[in-house]
Amino acid sequence: MARNQFASKFGTMAAIAGSAVGLGNIWKFPYVAGQNGGAAFLIIYIVISLLISVPVMLSEFVIGRRGQGNTYRSFINSSGKKAWGTVGAIEIFAGMVILAFYCVVAGWSLEYIIQSIGHGFGGMTYEQMSVTFDDFVNGNRPVLWTLIFLAMNCVILAFGVSKGIERCSKFMIPALFCILLLLAIVSCWQDGWKEGAAFLLKPNWKAVTGQTIIMALGQSFFSLSLGMSAMTTYGSYIQKDQSLVSVSMIVTGATVLMAVLAGLAIFPSVFTYGVEVTSGPNLVFKTLPPLFATLPGGRIVSVLFFILLFFAAITSSFSLLEAGAAYISEEWKVAGKPVTRVWALVILFFTVGALSVICAMSQVSGSTLTILGWSVFDFTDMFTSNFILPLGGIAACVLVGWLMERNVVFNELTSDGQFSAKVSGFFFWLARYVCPIIILFMFINGVRSIERPKAAPAEEIAPVVAPVQSTSVLDVAADEMEVVFDPNRMIEVQGENAAE
Ligand code: PFF
Repeated sequence: MARNQFASKFGTMAAIAGSAVGLGNIWKFPYVAGQNGGAAFLIIYIVISLLISVPVMLSEFVIGRRGQGNTYRSFINSSGKKAWGTVGAIEIFAGMVILAFYCVVAGWSLEYIIQSIGHGFGGMTYEQMSVTFDDFVNGNRPVLWTLIFLAMNCVILAFGVSKGIERCSKFMIPALFCILLLLAIVSCWQDGWKEGAAFLLKPNWKAVTGQTIIMALGQSFFSLSLGMSAMTTYGSYIQKDQSLVSVSMIVTGATVLMAVLAGLAIFPSVFTYGVEVTSGPNLVFKTLPPLFATLPGGRIVSVLFFILLFFAAITSSFSLLEAGAAYISEEWKVAGKPVTRVWALVILFFTVGALSVICAMSQVSGSTLTILGWSVFDFTDMFTSNFILPLGGIAACVLVGWLMERNVVFNELTSDGQFSAKVSGFFFWLARYVCPIIILFMFINGVRSIERPKAAPAEEIAPVVAPVQSTSVLDVAADEMEVVFDPNRMIEVQGENAAE
């Protein structure tokens, strides 16, 4: 039977961009950029993405398209050695763990779509929003929403790669872009628009340090879904007439564009009301909703924003669930027969779902579901981000740069001579020499930040979480950050709402 493939060029772009543009781009990137030099950070981010992340993505595409299998099989087929399958298997496992905690947060956005349709959050203070959110997280509904979100994923994937993932992404990614653009335009009505835009876009080279570069690399790496089996699996579905180099450049450009638009949609409101700039769940579930309510068409803006989060989350999670589904349906046999795609999805629903429920429950205050002082949720995020993903990236570069035959790699990169060999040669050179060293450095940085909590007394754990966040996929630990209000501005907001 012929293997699954994406059917169209646009569908391929939409699905891969869908994997890349996720919660990280919307709630973390604009904040990190603003805090670390604005346009200066953006420039560094783009350069780092081109020099490191794009070659890693290309390596993963090459392994997938050459290997024509799930990530485990593609690593074996591309290397010709069974041992390399272990790398693929570890990446798939990491992907399922990431998917598990991602479903929890995606579930929160479903709750907030419903809540914003219901009352729109107008006139609520930050404290009220905090109580609402904390009550919600401590209740049973997050578990329910997590499972609903995962079930939606499974149903869509049951339709297949082209009819499920590609068809949905072709609708959701343009919709996501339009919503972001609309929100950014509506935000121009806020008095703090100029300040908000300046925070994100005014270059401040003084804020740039060595740590900024590491942060840009971490953000870019995870934003492009590298080292977690997603891109290798999607690479195996890219048709031969499509240029891998163009796909990776366009997807990288799209993630930057979406993140900048997200910043332009978010920060004007934040600056208008003198709210301290923050990121993560704090930003989107506590700070923003009442601020959005002050915009023209406030309730619709809130609803659209949470729909946007949902689209960003579900198109990202497709790629990881697909990596698991492809692996089970291509590798596992029951009574000598391959497991069908639908059964693979049922298995994943129960296994990933069980881990998701644990992650959701570990967020409840006072929960004993902890590992080394972190909640299971934060631990899985931090561990996969700092350990598995960088190692997966290094492995892909070593395999493509050093072990696969050079002409085989070039045939993939140029699609058998259809596209420029010069550009491909440049990226090949980067994957061979530059990427493994730089990512190794990032890996060591991550390992150093995880070792400290073990040695430190309990009360010293909190500050150590900060550097770890910089290479975490989701930045959920930022939920612990303080958000400070300018009370005078807040009174104004409430006054305006009361007058409505
Ligand atoms: N690129 C995604 C993001 O920035 O949110 C990372 C990701 C996370 C991809 C979880 C897929 C996923 F299931």
